Amino acid sequence: MKGQIMQGDIAKVLLSEEQIQQRIKELGEQLSKDYANCDGEVILICILKGAVVFFADLARAMNMHMQMEFMGISSYGNEQKTSGIVRITKDIDTSITDKHVIIAEDIMDSGLTLSHLVKLLSSRSPASLKICCLLDKPSRRECDITPDYCGFIIPNEFVVGYGLDYLGFYRNLPFVGVLKSSVYTEDFSTPTNGR
Ligand code: IMP
Ligand code: MG
Repeated sequence: MKGQIMQGDIAKVLLSEEQIQQRIKELGEQLSKDYANCDGEVILICILKGAVVFFADLARAMNMHMQMEFMGISSYGNEQKTSGIVRITKDIDTSITDKHVIIAEDIMDSGLTLSHLVKLLSSRSPASLKICCLLDKPSRRECDITPDYCGFIIPNEFVVGYGLDYLGFYRNLPFVGVLKSSVYTEDFSTPTNGR
């Protein structure tokens, strides 16, 4: 609801700021351990735009020499349903051949976007390729894919905040929450782009 305090649009907080920060600290420690032998060879790829907040916190929770890359993708489909056909709107700027690649993504839903992306990046011959996503909705899966690292498994609800959007809004909420149903019936009339 434009003109109102953003927090007022939230029906419930699913994951608090503290819960998210604590879990990211754990993920960062786990990754630092698992990649200890790959110091300097790790590339963390941020999938724009949804992963940007998670990516920034995760990278700072990892204590190692690594490079950051950014990839923009857009998939054909509507806001709440992906077709899985992915178009790259911004490619990474460096070669990943023989590097240890970690994809940082906001959420795995049907899994179609990430399975397409994994195929695409695998063809560039990285030394290894893993997926780290903040949220996972396994009940929605439409293909055989599981994140290698996952922050939280959540129920089948549409969530916003901490990078996740509804029509391009709410990415800057510091927590993950569910919107009030009244928000969906309002006319935001602002198109979104970027995942
Ligand atoms: P998938 O191909 O169905 O796995 O789609 C994943 C993408 O859909 C994510 O990167 C998000 O941009 C979007 N998405 C899926 N579920 C949600 C949600 O609950 N809130 C916001 N965006 C979502
Ligand atoms: Mg999105």
